[in-house]
Amino acid sequence: MSDETGPARPDASGTAATAAETAPPETASTKTAPATGAGLTRRALLVGVGAAGGAGAMFAAMGALGLAPESQDRDFTPPRHSDFSLTGRGAAKVVVLGAGVAGLTCAYELGKAGYDCTVLEASGRVGGRNLTLRAGDRLDELGGETQTAAFEEGIYFNAGAARIAAWMVTMDYCRELGVPVEIFVNNNASAYVYTQDMSAPLRARAARADLYGYVAELLAKASNTGALDRRLTADDRERLAEFLRRFGDLGPDLAYRRDSRRRGFETYPGVGEGVSVGTASSLRDVLAANTGRYVTMDFGYDQVMPMFQPVGGMDTITDALADAVGRDRIRTGTPVTGVRNLPDGVEVTHRGGTGEGVVRADYCVATLPPHLFARLPHNLGTPVTAALRTPVPVSAGKIGLEYGRRWWEIDDRIYGGASETDLDITHIWYPSHGFHSRGGLVVGYYNVEENAEAYTGLSHRERRNRALTQGKKIHGEKYRAELRSSVSIAWRRQPYIEGGWASWPSFDAAFDLLQRPAGRVYFAGDWLTHLTAWQAGAMESARRAVTDLHRRVLQATS
Ligand code: ALA
Repeated sequence: MSDETGPARPDASGTAATAAETAPPETASTKTAPATGAGLTRRALLVGVGAAGGAGAMFAAMGALGLAPESQDRDFTPPRHSDFSLTGRGAAKVVVLGAGVAGLTCAYELGKAGYDCTVLEASGRVGGRNLTLRAGDRLDELGGETQTAAFEEGIYFNAGAARIAAWMVTMDYCRELGVPVEIFVNNNASAYVYTQDMSAPLRARAARADLYGYVAELLAKASNTGALDRRLTADDRERLAEFLRRFGDLGPDLAYRRDSRRRGFETYPGVGEGVSVGTASSLRDVLAANTGRYVTMDFGYDQVMPMFQPVGGMDTITDALADAVGRDRIRTGTPVTGVRNLPDGVEVTHRGGTGEGVVRADYCVATLPPHLFARLPHNLGTPVTAALRTPVPVSAGKIGLEYGRRWWEIDDRIYGGASETDLDITHIWYPSHGFHSRGGLVVGYYNVEENAEAYTGLSHRERRNRALTQGKKIHGEKYRAELRSSVSIAWRRQPYIEGGWASWPSFDAAFDLLQRPAGRVYFAGDWLTHLTAWQAGAMESARRAVTDLHRRVLQATS
């Protein structure tokens, strides 16, 4: 597809898509199908076969009906989990808006199915919020400041997406695209918990032991004194007590052992005398330290170990996707200025290249952030604009702090994971790779909403100083003194993105509306799933949009 090319063929109906209009000669439009039974169209049969038997059955049925070109027998690759579930070829032209994870996944999957895709990307690079910064990379922010990463060779900073849960479809794409993955340490008992109600940071293992211990003690004693008798039988009580003794490391008196070995040792007994890290504070003090929120950070379905990251940087995924799509199909530096449904196609206007341009296609998949799409001139209707305005852009920020010495490993015995805090930095992340190498990069804050907003308006230098002041409370003077270089990002100030992600106040009718195409324009993005702020959400949404589009094309073909 190229500029100035109209939709492949006019659509006589002037409404819904017709793949027949764009179909190559060997597809349904020119083949005579055998009779399929009274009242049963080829389309209905294929949809039914596809639904019941999946892609393989669908393709076999297409072959039996004479709809599958012979060459496809050779080309056909059985679908893998990361393929969308309909097969068959489409020949329509599709313009994809945005070369982030959703846009690239759309173009990749459509390309597999034979579509002619062009991807228009406003910024100068692919990836969107999948952004890895390395030595020499520039980072522009709305409002003027440009940073250049001065990292040593081999150091990288995943400034956006950084972790992948094992169950996410992102892992399937990594496997399919040959992107090697390694463990992302999302829970480390050796990292710290620090709240402003504590006099000093505590190792996560001790903070957890104390909180679980006292909660278990309270419950066990309440049960033992009959307070739960209306809910529990004698057998229940015994089973509960057995669990609580383990969960909380309780003694025979059902009290939390305040010198629990779970809290750890300064020096291990047997080697020397054994110096424990000290006994737990009182229940009251433990509750007053407010660590509850911070010892449960990784309890969510999307946060539990094992988690993963691509080896060498998160952008390995988007680079592999862009290569698979074909770099010549992706036009960076091409901001979209308008989207219009035509009776027989779509028309997208854009800047970039030699100036104003126009791309015409049969369909469009728009993966722009919703609040940015809402600002574009379009003819998709007022309800679409209102729906696009509903999800609220969320601020998120990160700073990468590069050190020449891995003091967190050498001094603190922290290998990956995060320290959790109620300071405005929220987390300090330690690298999950390059253990025992010379230098490394710590994420000095990863914050969202008001904590991120506190940093968004600052210059990089101010952000760095603030982050160092906060981090010093956990790690001491070395945190400032040993810093080599740093880069910070405020996603609200990223051109053509303007947000960490977009959050729905509720998943209501506006959310439902945008799951459907507006004429020939489909929408895709993590914000159209319940996996907001995850690459997996962008991929799942892309697969849904592509499947819907392809189904429409197949139906029109039959
Ligand atoms: N996906 C985002 C994270 O990993 C929310 O924190």
